[in-house]
Amino acid sequence: AASPYGTLPPASPMASRKPISLPRLLEMRARNEKITMITAYDATFAAVADAAGIDSILVGDSLGMVVYGMENTLAVSLDTMIAHTQAVMRGSTHAAVLLDMPFSSYQESPQQAYRNGARALAESGAQGLKLEGGAELVDTVEFLVARGLPVMPHIGLMPQRVNEMGGFKAQGREEDAAKKWISIAQRFENAGAFSVLMEGTVEPVASAVANALKVPLIGIGASPACDGQVLVTEDILGLFPDFTPRFAKRYAEIGKLISVAAGQYAADVRLGAFPTPEHCFGVRKQ
Ligand code: KIV
Repeated sequence: AASPYGTLPPASPMASRKPISLPRLLEMRARNEKITMITAYDATFAAVADAAGIDSILVGDSLGMVVYGMENTLAVSLDTMIAHTQAVMRGSTHAAVLLDMPFSSYQESPQQAYRNGARALAESGAQGLKLEGGAELVDTVEFLVARGLPVMPHIGLMPQRVNEMGGFKAQGREEDAAKKWISIAQRFENAGAFSVLMEGTVEPVASAVANALKVPLIGIGASPACDGQVLVTEDILGLFPDFTPRFAKRYAEIGKLISVAAGQYAADVRLGAFPTPEHCFGVRKQ
């Protein structure tokens, strides 16, 4: 099918042009097909990711850092998440779009999570929600799923807990970590989560969790045993020089390309080499 970025490749042998559904992600897990997920925060990036055949787009609250220049994700508001998810929905037709619930929009009670989560899904059109948390979040997940809100809990390294963790540190090094995270992830699965996301957790713990679940475990800095992988787009494109986590593989150096292009443009303007007549509007002859 036509796309301004080229022909859309199939995401998998069964894929069609309809948006990938959440049950489809479960089917992929059952068939051992890896799920590809990437972050996007606007229509342009969403369209490019879609054209590349990415299965799912996460509108992450990481936008606080990579788009808004914040030190961490804590100040991102629900309104901001909804606005960016609406933009992503306008740009994508193929990927399953998920919205990240920001700090303080769901932790207070299952009812608060329902009110804000339902509003976020209704106003953005996203298919599912991501919420960070451990055992304390199980009741909330059950409450949301029972009321028709699809949820993907985010475990392991939780950026919304950066202060409590004392920085963005790999998790799962303590004794019994595998047992603890397997138990939490399975409780989420039993509560009806359509998937679980695990971030920044030591490999043996993450692979043990992946093997213990029937729903897909999406990893970021976790394990190749995860059923899918997610990365922050700016990290893999070389667009976020402030901090690149060890687990983010660089696939391009777009930041350097933009810098060269902007520098050439500035030099042309200063030298009077731009604009030239081809860039100017003439007066129409009567
Ligand atoms: O906010 C985000 O982009 C995320 C990913 C890092 C998983 O939570």
